[in-house]
Amino acid sequence: SEDEVVNITYVDKDGNRIKVRGKVGDNVMYLAHRYEIPMEGACEASLACTTCHVYVPPEYFDKLPPSEEKEDDLLDMAPFLKENSRLGCQITLTKDMEGLEVQLPKATRNFYVDGHKPKPH
Ligand code: FES
Repeated sequence: SEDEVVNITYVDKDGNRIKVRGKVGDNVMYLAHRYEIPMEGACEASLACTTCHVYVPPEYFDKLPPSEEKEDDLLDMAPFLKENSRLGCQITLTKDMEGLEVQLPKATRNFYVDGHKPKPH
């Protein structure tokens, strides 16, 4: 129903704005994938990478449930970390999130999938 719709805008690293109709309960990373938005998600939401890194505007950031310690530890290793950084796969849409804009960072780096650092190439 209309009650469940949550409009969200993704802003990619080049500043392109992609508006999407999500719904309550959608995961911000999987929703992006459904619309072919270039958000990565190397570990499939298992809190083992930082490739789903996003910036959340302060007014929405404060409405999110606080991040787990594991998320914070990962974010500490994310390139271009900011105060309003979160991992996109840890954000679930609620009605409170109506109008949310998430910004993708300039770049991401994959550290910890499968517990191994990627081999240098
Ligand atoms: Fe790896 Fe989000 S997809 S932590």
